[in-house]
Amino acid sequence: MVTASAPGKAILFGEHAVVYGEPAVAVAIDARVYISVTPCEGIWKMDGYALESGRHPHVVSLRNAILGESSEPQAIQIRSELFPAAGLGSSAALSAAGCAALLSLSNQDLDEERIATLSHLAEANAQGGRASPIDTSTSTLGGCVLVSNQKESFANWRYSRTLETPEGERMWEVHSVDLPPSASDIWLVVGYTGIHASTADLVQKVADLLANSPNKMESISRMGDVARAGVAALSQGDYVEVGKLMDEAHDLLSSIGVSCSELDDMVTVARRTSFGAKLTGAGGGGCMLALTDKPEETAAALEMRGGRVIVTPLGASGVVMENSYEN
Ligand code: PMV
Repeated sequence: MVTASAPGKAILFGEHAVVYGEPAVAVAIDARVYISVTPCEGIWKMDGYALESGRHPHVVSLRNAILGESSEPQAIQIRSELFPAAGLGSSAALSAAGCAALLSLSNQDLDEERIATLSHLAEANAQGGRASPIDTSTSTLGGCVLVSNQKESFANWRYSRTLETPEGERMWEVHSVDLPPSASDIWLVVGYTGIHASTADLVQKVADLLANSPNKMESISRMGDVARAGVAALSQGDYVEVGKLMDEAHDLLSSIGVSCSELDDMVTVARRTSFGAKLTGAGGGGCMLALTDKPEETAAALEMRGGRVIVTPLGASGVVMENSYEN
């Protein structure tokens, strides 16, 4: 049996604006997806059922790309510590971990750029050809990741990602961001509203808003400025400033219609014990996050409001093999 794992992610800055070319910053969180692959008789299986492209598009696409459609059958088991469909990148974590497991199974090199590329393509295939590489790159590389439409001087450039989308070729520059040692005393508290909202619907809602009110493009461009300032403050360990910028990012996201009363409520509660708080991911439900040096207090306050929480350091390790065949 081979087992690999990869982390989920939380977007600190730049969701929605990244769709319009602005930078976005995410951190890997301390909640992972584990995937185990064991040879079996008969057909490929996923958690005991037949592996099907309709139900398991990410794994089928990785299997076809790495081993080929007619490869020896395997039984796949998945265990996830992430809230599903909550904007924490569970499908990207599944893709990165699945990719590593299948590469390891076939004795291929576990090159991070290759894993990020294959996982991004699997995610794009599953999402009608559209996906930014932020989730899959963060799950693969771990730590803190910045994606932009240009190489940014304030982060470490890792690779470029291109994707043929229904709207033509798109290109992203993927960077990792070094965090200062003081970051080990700072925590993110991720709070889940329990409300499932579709990322595609929210991205469409923002597109419609911008088409009807072009002046809202100012909010998008300000989100890009906030993301750049946020990375700079984070790199310098200025968490008070990071928190202020997170608060502003939440207000900007509200101004383009992607917050909701439950998110606003949890953000307000969390701000009492944190440097700052904002929705994370597509919005409309899903999750919020707070940056804090009092994680127990912030988590307890959110739980009192009925939210489920994950407390995580800023960054976690990227994709890893948990074990592999020993010859
Ligand atoms: O899938 P989520 O909830 O992590 O959010 C995706 C972030 C968006 O910027 C809203 C969409 C995108 O493709 O980047």
